[in-house]
Amino acid sequence: MATAAKNALIVGASRGLGLGLADTFLKRGWRVTATQRTPSPELAALVSEALTVETVDIDDDAAVAALHGRLESQTYDLVFVVAGVATRAHDPLHAVPRAVAAQVYLTNAISPIRFAEAFRDRLAPGGSLALMTSILGSVALNDEGGWENYRASKAALNTLARSFEIRHRDANVSVLLVHPGWVRTEMGGPEADLDVATSVAGMADVIEARLGRPGCAYVDYRGTTLDW
Ligand SMILES: NC(=O)c1ccc[n+]([C@@H]2O[C@H](COP(=O)([O-])OP(=O)(O)OC[C@H]3O[C@@H](n4cnc5c(N)ncnc54)[C@H](OP(=O)(O)O)[C@@H]3O)[C@@H](O)[C@H]2O)c1
Repeated sequence: MATAAKNALIVGASRGLGLGLADTFLKRGWRVTATQRTPSPELAALVSEALTVETVDIDDDAAVAALHGRLESQTYDLVFVVAGVATRAHDPLHAVPRAVAAQVYLTNAISPIRFAEAFRDRLAPGGSLALMTSILGSVALNDEGGWENYRASKAALNTLARSFEIRHRDANVSVLLVHPGWVRTEMGGPEADLDVATSVAGMADVIEARLGRPGCAYVDYRGTTLDW
């Protein structure tokens, strides 16, 4: 008897890594609900009966609650919050206007955890919550400086994800903080090491291998555990 297809919710899939992840999981036979903020022609081009496209801004609590309501009948083997921003990443923190710095922190650290909390009841038994972090979020591995506010936002995401996992440990929650490598997207730029296909294939392998494993792991797209 054929097993049922796994079900993923990929948040922030209009372009870049989220779009690549949606495409990859569809090609691996998963059903995918992929979100955009505004209509994405690239996402619309992934024509598949297994794809559902939804719209949400993770900074908007009411929009997240409305999405939760629209997806009422669904449970997910994977909820992956990919969305993130790197506004004024090259400026030292003191040169970034307070409101801009705060917005990066809200989008990269606060909103993913609030989204995870809102959708925790939609994680299927044996499923995982994944959050797109960065190696730049590692305090221990910060030997080069730079990307100060972005780094701090991803370090905050890592800390909040650990606290989320501890808070829900009785439910054996599985949390994966995933670093995609340095990837050629709008955020990563043209000089980055990896193409999207290589990064997302690696991340999908890592997620499928670790799906449902209780605890909070910080890993890269090759499955290497990173120092906090
Ligand atoms: N590329 C790299 O080298 C690299 C390395 C480490 C970590 N990362 C992380 O990987 C993730 C994806 O990055 P990327 O390289 O694919 O960047 P990207 O090409 O700039 O894409 C960013 C994505 O996040 C979405 N997004 C931003 N703010 C959002 C919000 N408030 N609500 C919903 N969606 C929102 C964007 O949607 P719109 O199209 O609507 O703007 C877009 O889909 C980010 O979390 C980033 O920090 C990337």
